[in-house]
Amino acid sequence: MTETAAEPRKSWAALEIEVKRTDEDLACWLLMQCGAQGCEVEGLDGQPAEGGKVRVRATFDSAVIAQSDFDSIIGSFEEYGLAESLKTLKRKDVPEEDWLARWKEGFEPFRVGTMFIVAPSWYHPQADSECAGKLDSELVGNRKVIYIEPGMAFGTGLHATTQFCLRALESFPPRKRILDVGTGSGILAIAAALLCSDCQICAVDIDPVAVDFAAKDLELNDVDGRIELLVGSTDVAQGRLFDMLLSNLTCEDIVALLPDYARLLATGGVVLCAGILAEKLPLLEKAATEKGFQIVQSETIGHWVGVVLQKG
Ligand SMILES: C[S@@+](CC[C@H](N)C(=O)[O-])C[C@H]1O[C@@H](n2cnc3c(N)ncnc32)[C@H](O)[C@@H]1O
Repeated sequence: MTETAAEPRKSWAALEIEVKRTDEDLACWLLMQCGAQGCEVEGLDGQPAEGGKVRVRATFDSAVIAQSDFDSIIGSFEEYGLAESLKTLKRKDVPEEDWLARWKEGFEPFRVGTMFIVAPSWYHPQADSECAGKLDSELVGNRKVIYIEPGMAFGTGLHATTQFCLRALESFPPRKRILDVGTGSGILAIAAALLCSDCQICAVDIDPVAVDFAAKDLELNDVDGRIELLVGSTDVAQGRLFDMLLSNLTCEDIVALLPDYARLLATGGVVLCAGILAEKLPLLEKAATEKGFQIVQSETIGHWVGVVLQKG
């Protein structure tokens, strides 16, 4: 198994911005929504551990940040109350090797809920690495291990919204026919496949680069033969019926997709939704009620809300 760092070296456009520590998650998420492919956070000298500021570095999958992405970063930081931080915004370039190396240093296996452990690819038993097969058996216990290649797709499991969906799969176990909308690295589809050996799972993403990464992660977890992976959105699943949808997208995206979700779901089917900023929840509540969904579970973590909708 080769690691991405061994591939030809590129230079990524990047930008740095300083935000309050309490806003780091929100800042990373906004940057990812505006085209960043990865974010890393570092402490700043002289700042208190609590209440201080951190530097967020966002990396883009191109030599130059598209002007439209740059404009949406400014607009969304203003919209979400982080306008003050824009004074510290700087553009930088990062050689790929440095970026991935830093990523890798910070990515250690970690537990999510009671059923999963997420581990970087170099812990896989067949990895070409000194960590191969060396996951701490006490840490793992009887949890399912999800191996992820940390790369340019969202879904390393580190984000609160992904973790909400992974935990929600404990209270709402995978159902027969599942559609993962916005699969990113494939992490939620992999989790569903590991919990349910006979589920039929389809995973879609509008970003072909994410789909390429997801394909690698499905293979890494030996579930590639069990998950149908497609470039696209709900459009590529039209005419089919599902019992469960996994939907870690923005509130606006989820609201826009709700009419499709209502068509794609069988009666009684559920949508595990994450990626909703707390202040946007009323938008989703209103749209969901109009489309005949009930909120059957909700959890708030920091800025984020995860909800489970059920079709009546
Ligand atoms: C926040 S990430 C979630 C990744 C992963 N499912 C997770 O939970 O960690 C959202 C992903 O959805 C994709 N996406 C955004 N809008 C979409 C849409 N309307 N339909 C399908 N995929 C979409 C993005 O390309 C991105 O990979």
